[in-house]
Order: sequence, then structure tokens, then C-alpha cells
Amino acid sequence: MTKTMRAALITHYRQAVPVIQRVPLPTPNANDVLVQIKAASINPIDLKTMAGGLKFLLPYQMPLIIGSDFAGTVVAVGTHVTDFQVGDAVYGRPRKHRIGTFAEYLAVDQADIALKPRNLSFTEAAAIPLVGLTSYQALHDLLRLRPGQRVLIQAGAGGIGTVAIQLAKTLGAKVTTTTSQKNTAFVQSLGADKVIDYHHEDFATTLSGYDAVFDTLGGPNLLRAFQIVKPGGRVVSISGLPDAKFARSYGLPWWKRQLIRLASHRLTQTAKRAHVSYHFLFMKPSHAQLTILTDLIAQERLRPIIDRTFPLTELPEALAYSHQGHARGKIVVTMV
Ligand SMILES: NC(=O)c1ccc[n+]([C@@H]2O[C@H](COP(=O)([O-])OP(=O)(O)OC[C@H]3O[C@@H](n4cnc5c(N)ncnc54)[C@H](OP(=O)(O)O)[C@@H]3O)[C@@H](O)[C@H]2O)c1
Repeated sequence: MTKTMRAALITHYRQAVPVIQRVPLPTPNANDVLVQIKAASINPIDLKTMAGGLKFLLPYQMPLIIGSDFAGTVVAVGTHVTDFQVGDAVYGRPRKHRIGTFAEYLAVDQADIALKPRNLSFTEAAAIPLVGLTSYQALHDLLRLRPGQRVLIQAGAGGIGTVAIQLAKTLGAKVTTTTSQKNTAFVQSLGADKVIDYHHEDFATTLSGYDAVFDTLGGPNLLRAFQIVKPGGRVVSISGLPDAKFARSYGLPWWKRQLIRLASHRLTQTAKRAHVSYHFLFMKPSHAQLTILTDLIAQERLRPIIDRTFPLTELPEALAYSHQGHARGKIVVTMV
């Protein structure tokens, strides 16, 4: 008899809420482990995927189990798996065409996971992979922050911001962040050196001479970020428009590359005039970088911040809470 599991899936884009139903367990490939998921976090990409907002970059086949990162226990391993064994506690971010973590089981490539930090519960660990990897790739790989450099991290109280502030401090940077006044003391407790209350202060006219901006907001906030960065500095966005460099490296067909080039023309020109480099980041899974995050967590230099947890049966409520856009840290769904 086929084994089944509970999973949250959509059958079409713009479906209001995912349905939770029983589906067959996934079968691991040779390089995969089968994980029994204990917890998975909400990321805005889940809402964007459901809405069809990422179809241009990331078209999916339906039905689709949603959910982008997780923590759980290995219950089976593929024939080529060398690094993990049954019983290991792991966490990770599956590659883009193999999402589906709001489910009781996931088959995931061994290259996309790492051992769970021992000093975190499964619920805490599930709050790390997607935001941790994104922040690391932005701050370390693309902005190349060095000790003493000044960086603006937008939306410091959010899922990304709460991890990015801590990571930027481990790189020795001086961190400025934007948030509502109610979160000022909170982001300072994570390491922010300077806080801008975005309801009452305009970062673009208040700040100047920065080495780097990590933009999580996109739109006008991204365009105005170039005003505060000194020549030779860098801006990375995870919410703005992709640029031509990204389109080439992402392997998009020529007509999509062309559309991106036209859409990002104003942004590219703004960066050029300011003598500032611009990169759009679409994060990637990475075993090696998850291991770096695990070490930082073990050294207590990085900790997950969880706003609320919900059981899988309340996934629609968890997504609705995320949609409000004011979470303080992460929202985690447990598979109880
Ligand atoms: N490209 C990629 O690879 C990638 C990866 C991860 C995330 N992302 C994107 O990055 C964005 C942020 O993700 P997230 O997980 O951090 O989202 P999130 O947790 O939902 O962000 C919520 C936070 O944003 C703050 N906020 C809202 N508007 C703000 C503003 N104008 N200025 C400053 N803070 C503001 C809120 O603070 P207040 O309550 O104080 O308003 C709240 O704490 C999303 O669009 C997501 O899709 C992209």
C-alpha cells in the first residue's frame, strides 16, 4: 500500500489558501535524503509563489506543495548519499524546483542541507536556512563587507533583517537599519548601531557616505539607496528588479533577458551615475554556507528570532499573518 503524508498544496496560481490533503510520500533519488519534517518557516516567497508573482523567473508545475525551508530528521538515504545517515537531525533550503516543506516528508538533495545546530530546537532551526543563506550571500559574497565598513540593512525587524544585522556584526561592519519606533530597542539588541524610524525619518536624506546597502524593500527605496552610498560602494537587493548580469547568470532565454534589461534600465543608469555597483540576488541553497551558519549559532554569535508559531492545520492563518508585513523575526509552522 502506498504510504501517504499530509501536505499543503496549491493546484493553480492565485489560489486564496493552500489545501492540506494526503498525498503519496516522495521517493528519494540517489543523492537525496528523505526527511521527516518537524518544522518549516514562512517566507514571503511562499506568498509570491502562490500569487504567481514569480512565474517569470520560476515557473512551477501544478499541483505544487509550497514551503521553502525546514528542519527535521533523516528517515531514509539514497544510494549515493555519503554525508548523512538515518537519524540525523538536519535543516536546509531545497533547490528552487524541489520546494515543498509544508509537508510531513521531503526528499531533498544532500547538497542542500546540513546538520541542525545542536543548540537549537527543530522549531528554532527551521527559522534559519532561507533567511540565513540569503543574508550571508548578500553581506559576505556580494557586498563583501569588511570590518569597519558602514552598511544600511533595510527592514531590520523582519525575517531577513533580524539575521542580517547579526551576520553583518560578525563581519565587523557598522550597521544602520530601518524599522518602526516600537522595534528600536529590539534591533539594537541584535547589534544595530544606528536605527532609523522609517515612519518619521527618510534614510535617503539622513544618511550619506555608506559603503553598502542591503535592500529588502525594492521600488523607490532601492532607487534612493544609491544616494547614500559613496562612489565605489555596493548595493544588493533581494526585492528589487533583477539586472542584466543576473539574467545572464540565471540562464533565462534571450527574450526574458531583453525584458529585464529594459525594465532595469533606470536602475542600471542610477547605479552608473552614482559609480556604485548593483546586484540583484536570488539566493541559492548551499551545504557549505549552512555549515558556516551552524558554527556561528554554536558560538552564540547568531540566533533565530521567532515571532509566532502555528501548527500545519493553521497554515492559512500563518500566511495571512506574514502577509500583513509586520512580523518581528520569523513565523514557523510545526508539523504536529
Ligand atoms: N531574492 C531572494 O533570494 C530573497 C530571499 C529572501 C527574501 N526575499 C524578499 O525579501 C523581502 C523581505 O523578506 P523578509 O522575510 O524579511 O520579510 P518579512 O519578515 O515579512 O518583513 C517584515 C518586516 O518588514 C518591516 N518593514 C515593512 N515595511 C518597511 C519599511 N518601509 N521600512 C523598513 N521596514 C519595513 C516590518 O517592520 P515594521 O513592523 O516595523 O513595519 C517587518 O518587521 C521579501 O520581499 C522577500 O520576498 C528575497
